[in-house]
Amino acid sequence: MSRMQASVLGLLALACAKFARAKIDESNFDAARIIERDVAIIGGGAAGTYAAVRLREDFNTSIIVIEPKNRLGGHVDTYEVPETNTTLEYGVQSYMQYGPTVDFFERFSVEFGSFTSRRLATINVDVGTGKTLDYTSPTLNDTTEGLKKWLQFVEKYDSLVEPGFWNFPSPDKIPAEFLMPFGEFAREHKVEAAVPRIVTISGVGVGDLQILSTLQVVQAFGLAVTKGVLEGTFIQPKVSNSLLYQRAYKLLKDDVRLGSTIQETERDSTGVRIVIQSEKDQAKTLIKAKKVLWTPYPSQDNLKPFDQDAKELQVFKPWTPEWDYVGVASIPCIPENTSVQYMPRAVEPSNHLAIRDYAYFLSLGTTGPSGLNLFRVMLGANFSLTYEEAKVIVTSSVQKLVQAGTLNHTGDCEVDIKALSAHNGVLWPRESEALEQGFVQKLYSLQGHRSTWWTGRSWCEEYSSNVWTFTDTVLERLLKSLA
Ligand SMILES: Cc1cc2nc3c(=O)[nH]c(=O)nc-3n(C[C@H](O)[C@H](O)[C@H](O)COP(=O)(O)OP(=O)(O)OC[C@H]3O[C@@H](n4cnc5c(N)ncnc54)[C@H](O)[C@@H]3O)c2cc1C
Ligand SMILES: *[C@@H]1O[C@H](CO)[C@@H](O)[C@H](O)[C@H]1NC(C)=O
Ligand SMILES: *[C@@H]1O[C@H](CO)[C@@H](O)[C@H](O)[C@H]1NC(C)=O
Ligand SMILES: *[C@@H]1O[C@H](CO)[C@@H](O)[C@H](O)[C@H]1NC(C)=O
Ligand SMILES: *[C@@H]1O[C@H](CO)[C@@H](O)[C@H](O)[C@H]1NC(C)=O
Ligand SMILES: *[C@@H]1O[C@H](CO)[C@@H](O)[C@H](O)[C@H]1NC(C)=O
Ligand SMILES: *[C@@H]1O[C@H](CO)[C@@H](O)[C@H](O)[C@H]1NC(C)=O
Repeated sequence: MSRMQASVLGLLALACAKFARAKIDESNFDAARIIERDVAIIGGGAAGTYAAVRLREDFNTSIIVIEPKNRLGGHVDTYEVPETNTTLEYGVQSYMQYGPTVDFFERFSVEFGSFTSRRLATINVDVGTGKTLDYTSPTLNDTTEGLKKWLQFVEKYDSLVEPGFWNFPSPDKIPAEFLMPFGEFAREHKVEAAVPRIVTISGVGVGDLQILSTLQVVQAFGLAVTKGVLEGTFIQPKVSNSLLYQRAYKLLKDDVRLGSTIQETERDSTGVRIVIQSEKDQAKTLIKAKKVLWTPYPSQDNLKPFDQDAKELQVFKPWTPEWDYVGVASIPCIPENTSVQYMPRAVEPSNHLAIRDYAYFLSLGTTGPSGLNLFRVMLGANFSLTYEEAKVIVTSSVQKLVQAGTLNHTGDCEVDIKALSAHNGVLWPRESEALEQGFVQKLYSLQGHRSTWWTGRSWCEEYSSNVWTFTDTVLERLLKSLA
């Protein structure tokens, strides 16, 4: 190639780069609509709120939080019971005294006490017909014994997965147990009796718990939560789970954009530019930041305006979507202090591992003040489910109970859904092949790539306490990259 051709190509490349860079045109924004910060934080749930407080208050770093909902708190859902002017929690229930959790509550003067779950009489019913199942749940003793065996296992490997998978072994050194399908692992290690408890708390494995790699069950139910269950050491804020986030919002207010969605993004090694739009007035704002911290679940839908490159796409594309709803419903025909668990018939007579062998699960459990017939609804599906479809599943599942005679109730049962909230997500590629091809290393190699850092439940164990502990490890690295 002649020097002339080379320099023409060089110019062309420069022009193309310039052209690509000019996608977001700064001249379209008034000075008042341009925000410059050290770090833009996407999502104001557990991870985003925590990172915002830590960065701004403890590390003197300027931030902006972008959150599509009109509140902070993510999976926290507090329902205000109008009849009694009290609240009940239908999203996040409780917290572990692990990592920075207690300090974080104390920082906002959020008082807490031990969490006690209400004693409910359980009816296990066939998800297909609503008929009572001939299924014997594990005894408390068997559950405890199973959990102790699980504890031994997660304790052994905790340093590989907590806080975060930074030190996760390369494919040839991954412990064989992690790669085993969970069904096989559970039988071999005699943890079957712990399975109903594990899935009830974590929601893991809808549709196919037994084929999941055991590592994914560890991610959903690791050491801290297992200890919390065995030792009964969960805590809960006294007023409501939302209080922490209300107080954090009061503190951060000027640096939070609620009701705002990302429109487009440009990211490279020198920084990021993000255009956001406010739902209220449709006004667009340009954010120029040195780094961006992404916290929501990285679904293709969420990432669409985030300008993914090939490396990111390769990691995020094969994840498994999951549809989850939680809510509150008034159901007058189910007796108070009852929990109805919809399960596949395959669990009969006591096949605990089959508990998720169905495309969805549903549970309805008494909650809130006595006399109001309120039930907490939990619905998870491995197929796409809109709000309306979720409501239909809930109401028709109650009618099934009536028709099957499970409730000793005749006549109509008027189900009134008071609140329903989506907690959809995406999970790591399900089977162990991806792990054997270095999935974890590829995922973590995205940290810092294109001025972008990642946290939230998709990167670590999924409980708030784990997410906060992990977020600290990301911030430590992010701050180094800012220096
Ligand atoms: C029903 C349910 C109950 C749970 N109960 C508990 C519990 O009792 N205890 C516990 O410790 N953990 C619980 N968890 C686990 C929960 O995942 C964590 O506690 C924690 O909420 C995870 O924090 P996060 O920041 O990763 O996600 P989130 O808290 O979900 O925060 C993500 C935020 O990003 C926002 N967002 C979404 N999409 C976008 C987008 N495209 N752009 C910008 N922002 C976006 C969301 O609105 C949300 O505010 C529960 C989870 C669910 C689903
Ligand atoms: C915080 O950062 C600002 C801007 O970088 C700087 O001027 C100020 O001195 C810093 N404050 C502290 C306490 O470090
Ligand atoms: C409802 O409860 C809140 C907080 O406990 C209290 O401030 C408020 O006055 C109560 N409202 C009514 C109508 O009782
Ligand atoms: C469970 O029962 C067995 C005997 O049936 C007993 O040895 C064991 O201690 C019990 N475990 C617990 C946790 O109570
Ligand atoms: C959902 O779960 C059902 C029941 O286990 C299974 O047959 C189906 O293949 C699953 N679908 C997907 C998309 O994983
Ligand atoms: C349900 O349990 C609560 C305590 O959790 C109790 O106050 C109430 O009386 C019970 N209701 C019935 C109908 O037994
Ligand atoms: C329905 O009635 C039968 C027989 O009286 C009883 O055994 C069963 O517990 C009742 N079911 C409910 C949900 O009350």
